[in-house]
Amino acid sequence: MANIWLKKSITQLMNEASGNDKGLKRTIGTMGLIALGIGAIIGAGLFTSTAEAIANHTGPAVTISFVIAGIGCALAGLCYAEFASMIPIAGSAYTYAYATMGEFIAWIIGWDLVLEYGVASAKVATSWSEYLNKLLSNVFHIQIPYEFSHSPFQQAADGVHGIMNIPALFIILLLSLVLVRGVKGSSLVNSIIVVIKVAIVLLFIGFGWSYINPENYTPYIPANTNVSGEFGWTGIFAGAGVVFFAFIGFDAVSTAAQEAKNPQRDMPKGILLSLLICVVLYILFAHILAGVANYTEFRTVGQEASVTYVIDTYMKGYGWLSTLITIAILAGFSSVILVMLMGQSRVFFSMSNDGLVPKIFSQLHPKFKTPWKSNFLFFIFVGLIAAFIPASIISDMTVIGTLFAFVLVCIGIIVLRKTDPSLPRPFRTPWVPVIPILGILVCSGLIYTLGPANWLRLIVWLIVGVFIYFSYGVKNSKLQNGKVS
Ligand code: ALA
Repeated sequence: MANIWLKKSITQLMNEASGNDKGLKRTIGTMGLIALGIGAIIGAGLFTSTAEAIANHTGPAVTISFVIAGIGCALAGLCYAEFASMIPIAGSAYTYAYATMGEFIAWIIGWDLVLEYGVASAKVATSWSEYLNKLLSNVFHIQIPYEFSHSPFQQAADGVHGIMNIPALFIILLLSLVLVRGVKGSSLVNSIIVVIKVAIVLLFIGFGWSYINPENYTPYIPANTNVSGEFGWTGIFAGAGVVFFAFIGFDAVSTAAQEAKNPQRDMPKGILLSLLICVVLYILFAHILAGVANYTEFRTVGQEASVTYVIDTYMKGYGWLSTLITIAILAGFSSVILVMLMGQSRVFFSMSNDGLVPKIFSQLHPKFKTPWKSNFLFFIFVGLIAAFIPASIISDMTVIGTLFAFVLVCIGIIVLRKTDPSLPRPFRTPWVPVIPILGILVCSGLIYTLGPANWLRLIVWLIVGVFIYFSYGVKNSKLQNGKVS
């Protein structure tokens, strides 16, 4: 009878890491890690979900939603930081869980991370499609027809139905091919994109400030419509669940642990500082977005490519900024998709090395040394979602999956402090168990705001995962079969 609670010891993990380490050079410093974090964080969440939350849940009070979502992330981030400094190897939350809560929970987290990394890339790809269309129409006066840039479940105001989102599929294909070729040396490109992304956010804040119409802030919290989650305070919490998407990715820093120069010191810094910078930028950005246009417009004309809409409509004379921002947003989204898809293949690479998923996910390309088959399989999976499922559903799935992973990471910190109190912890989460417990409460609260349809989707996803674990993983696990040294 297999023991599904079997744990890898930290020593086992470190041995594996030093075995795997040979190809990976420790080249990334603090700034590089912060750039990696920001590269993964700023994306579709800020440039599309903000307007969605403003329109449907919060009005101008979206800033409060950002604060709530930011608090949830900071609490989970403090827990991630302890793990990342203690177990500084690739694999992220999956690896931490293998050492603390045993194989079954590790599997659940790894499976759940598909929602965070894989499904998130699909959402960003659909946003990429929106902004591409805006750029084509602003600069070249052409547009990809609605049918071919939306999923079959979406309908335009004039009654036209989507068929498939071809641009979203295209960008996933392109970036999967980039990943197959390998992205060594891409850290410079990433840093450049990060600088551009931060610059456009600052430009929008700087130029937009003087276009704020104070009337748009009244009422700051629009009255609840009698439907829970539509404005009022329940809306602010529901909005926090929506904009949470904008913070996802700071944990991607932890997947680069094996390439960090000084992981013990720099991992926590990379995670927490990139998060802090984004919280500040997001609140300012959202304040401007909701101040320049009225929240009701984001339900209709300003629904798609909202930032470009706001500049084109209200900031006359800034056409150049609108085009520049749209191009930068397209580049920025591409970097998010790349980091997410890479994170996804790294997690499945680790799981495949452990025998929990088939070997195909860890087979390397003979020349490029990348897990190319895995990249292609994920292209099919993520591409289908991006092409055929509406962005809001994809976004909610990502958020609920990530929140669930965060809850497990917070629990993991409490468990490991009990089971292995003497392990060296270069970074200690402060006030344990208070911080992890607060993290569990806030993240669970946000899960609650996402509503029954999303809970059900998560439950179905987890049931499928449990089924795969018992029919495949547990039988092929190297740890179960005594093949781990
Ligand atoms: N936080 C990332 C984004 O907003 C996933 O695109």
